[in-house]
Parts: sequence; C-alpha cells; structure tokens
Amino acid sequence: MNKQTLLLLKPDQPGLTRAADILAQGGLVSFPTETVYGLGADARNDHAVAGIFAAKGRPSFNPLIVHVGSLAAAQAICDFNGDARHLAAAFWPGALTLVLPLRADAGISRLVTAGLNSVAVRVPDHPVAAALLAAFGGPVAAPSANPSGRISPTIAAHVSAGLGDRIDALVDGGPCAVGLESTIVSCLGTPTLLRAGGIPAEAIAACLGQPLATAENPDAPTSPGQLLSHYAPKGQVRLNANDRKRGEVLLGFGPVEGDLTLSATGDLTEAAARLFERLHQLDTMGATQIAIAPIPDHGLGRAINDRLRRAAAPR
Ligand code: TXA
Ligand code: MG
Repeated sequence: MNKQTLLLLKPDQPGLTRAADILAQGGLVSFPTETVYGLGADARNDHAVAGIFAAKGRPSFNPLIVHVGSLAAAQAICDFNGDARHLAAAFWPGALTLVLPLRADAGISRLVTAGLNSVAVRVPDHPVAAALLAAFGGPVAAPSANPSGRISPTIAAHVSAGLGDRIDALVDGGPCAVGLESTIVSCLGTPTLLRAGGIPAEAIAACLGQPLATAENPDAPTSPGQLLSHYAPKGQVRLNANDRKRGEVLLGFGPVEGDLTLSATGDLTEAAARLFERLHQLDTMGATQIAIAPIPDHGLGRAINDRLRRAAAPR
C-alpha cells in the first residue's frame, strides 16, 4: 500500500466501505474506539500485522488486542468460561479486554498473540468502530495508534501527526469518550487484572462477585512477567549463526540459507510476519539445537532481535 499520502475518511458508508477494503487488502487503517484511536490491520494477515509493528516503531512484539463486532465473533476466536461469559454480558460492547484460550481454528496471525496460546479480545463500544468491523466482517488487531513510546491518540489529529506518513487511512470519528485504554482481565485461571483502564476494577469484581487477582497478588495464578513471557521454542538457541554446527537446525535469513528461512530475500517485514510460525515449526520438527542467522538491527529487525534474544536466554 502507498504509505506516502494519508487517506482521510469520513465515518459515513462510502468512507467505511473504503476503510474495510483497505483492511481486506492488508492495509493499515486507524479508527476511533471509545477508548483511544486504534491502528487496525486484518488480524488473520501476518504481513498486515507486521505492518502495525513497523508503523509504530515498536522495538518488541507485544501481543495485540483483537477487535470484533460481537460475542459470537469472539467465540470463533477463543474459548469462554463462565467468568468470561459473565464479563462479556455485563461489559460488551465496552472498554474491557478479555484474555482467553486461543482456539486452534481461530485463524489469527501468530504475530498478534506473539505465539502464545491465549488471545486478548474485545468488542468496542463506538458506532464507527462497530460499523467498520461490520463492513470488514473479520477480526481487526489494533494497538493504540501512536508511535511507540508516545501518548495514545484521542482525536484524529493526534494520529495524523504521529503516524500520518506511515499508515494508509484514518477514519475521523471525533474525540474518544473514554480517553484511556481498555481494562485487561485474564480469564485463563482466577480472573486477574493485567492492566487498569477504562472500566474500573471494582465494577468488574462486583460483576464476578469476587475481587480480581492482581499481577502483584501472590495468590494470582501467574505473575505478569510469566503472563507476558512470550512464546519460546523448546530447543536451545544460538544467535548470529552463519552456518550450522553438528546437530543444529539452522533458521536462515537473506544470504544465510537455512533448513528453513525467515525471509530468503532478506525482507524484514516478511521475517517479522513469519517469526512465530517458524519458531513453532522448529518445535514441530523436534529441533533441540537451533542456530539463527544474523538479522539486521534496524526497523522491524530490532523487534525481531529483541524476541530472538529472549528465545536464546538461558531458561
Ligand atoms: O483500549 C484499548 O485497549 C486500545 C484500543 C485501540 O482498543 N488498544 C490497546 O492495545 O491498548 P495495545 O496493543 O496497546 O495493548 C495490548 C495489551 C498489551 O499490554 C499486551 O501485553 C496485552 O494487551 N495482551 C495482549 N494479548 C495478551 C495475552 N495473550 N496475554 C496477556 N496480555 C495480552
Ligand atoms: Mg498503547
């Protein structure tokens, strides 16, 4: 897609149809939600999702929130337990994100979940977001539409100032009512608050009839570090490898031909899009010693290297 000129769209039918088409083609569209403006891409399209990280200049791959138009659409992506059903019934559409087990048949890009077997999902409460999701008809991955490390955008002008030359289109839906990101609750075990946000934790606890565990709470099933510890392959990882030693499986990049490659042409966007898929493949192959070719440390390469360093860290 052409990233030179930002297409400014009105939140009317022609504008939303155009925005949905751009999403379907793998483009990046910023759109308003009730919390903040999101930077959306087709959550099923590895390349489009890699584009989100490239546009934001994120130095690492945090898992992203998947936006859907309805509970039914969420249920096609993840498994709901009783707590999750209660919370969704009480707070959706709205500023509550639920972390739930990812369904095997969800079809969500592994880059969205950072290779985890859980997924964060929410139904936004904004007429423009709802209309866009309906027009697109699929799940949309969307972090806040700001460059990494900058404040979240609550009006369209914030988005065009921060990302105008790096995204395809922006739907102007006026100011965001909440102005704060969604509250994130993990329902993987005891309901746990992962991020305070637009919906107060007290309201969530009242709905559940029990206090939320917090990341700091020793009773919580998993610490935030563990919850956010990204997927790592089972094998031992050696970085910056230009060839394979005995017993190693080599993951190539560019001129370093491997047993499999992140990108034969040395394309960083392609490498990012494939990263978690390849790491899973190495597990499937039963690789116990993994060598990985050097990846240039600029642009998306920084996020790839951050991820690979974690994969290589002693466990
Ligand atoms: O209000 C919002 O939530 C906005 C609007 C655009 O919807 N979106 C947003 O997305 O704030 P983002 O990508 O900035 O925040 C995603 C958060 C991260 O802190 C990430 O760690 C957490 O969700 N997250 C995503 N998937 C997760 C998972 N499987 N397990 C634990 N945390 C997860
Ligand atoms: Mg953010």
